[in-house]
Amino acid sequence: MTGRDDGRGRPRAERGWGVWLGWREIEESGENGGEMLVLLNSGYEELSREAARIVAGAVKSKPSVTLGLATGSTTLGMYSELVRLHREQGLDFSRVVTFNLDEYLGLAAEHPQSFHCFMQENFFAHVNVAAGNIHIPEGTIGGDYEEYCAAYERAIREAGGIDLQILGIGRNGHIGFNEPTSSFGSRTRLKVLTNDTIEDNRKFFGAGEEMPQCAITMGIGTILEARKILLLATGEAKAETVAEAIEGPITASVTASCLQLHPDVTFVIDEAAGARLKQRDYYRRVMEMTARFTPNRLL
Ligand code: GLP
Repeated sequence: MTGRDDGRGRPRAERGWGVWLGWREIEESGENGGEMLVLLNSGYEELSREAARIVAGAVKSKPSVTLGLATGSTTLGMYSELVRLHREQGLDFSRVVTFNLDEYLGLAAEHPQSFHCFMQENFFAHVNVAAGNIHIPEGTIGGDYEEYCAAYERAIREAGGIDLQILGIGRNGHIGFNEPTSSFGSRTRLKVLTNDTIEDNRKFFGAGEEMPQCAITMGIGTILEARKILLLATGEAKAETVAEAIEGPITASVTASCLQLHPDVTFVIDEAAGARLKQRDYYRRVMEMTARFTPNRLL
């Protein structure tokens, strides 16, 4: 593929308005007609199993699937269920390619709070993803950040794009480390963290330890190009931001609200995280009707 084509051999100019806004056109992302699904689960365990079921389904239907992976405590249950499926049911990750969303700037891969370490401890050490297929932004790159980030974007494109992107959500509505006011067209880049995010994540660091101020993160534009997106949220602390993301105005002040523009996004949340949603009953009915009429949409 060259920079001038879209990965399917068509010149970029032939693609529609989705391109310059940074997301794939509906016709390119699947056959579901563009529905946002909200899967309400009773609690964290069910949510984790549900998310793992969808990821496992993607791996089974396309063994060389490209996964976009997220860190954060919310994703722990999903990873542990995927590890169980690998161990007990032979779920095979040998051809899977992964791209992580982000990494703290300044943290070496060996740092216990690095996202490299998180992924190793909670997932990669326990499954058979080939080491060469794993991509996580480096926290210790010095110098030309722009070139490094452009290379990360190129690697995603060369892998054929992300088939399934997993996301968590920060309390301020961020996805990856796309803090409020991030451009919806943003690509992988160095991002300064907000004080809110630094405070939220301080609990993972030792007392008195200096917190990273910046991160390398995929952009909103990068995320919106994934063919399918799964966002996980649990607990009361996320209820407000989840409601803003799903039902609020589309705004760079809550970057997860950009997902309303994506044609194939599923929110996998629990009752507590969904407590502020106005249309909860409607989402339940949509779940029932989807299971009845278009069950493939739940795979
Ligand atoms: C970090 C990560 C996000 C993640 C968020 C929420 O900021 N960059 O990708 O979604 O934390 O984390 P948690 O699941 O621990 O609430």
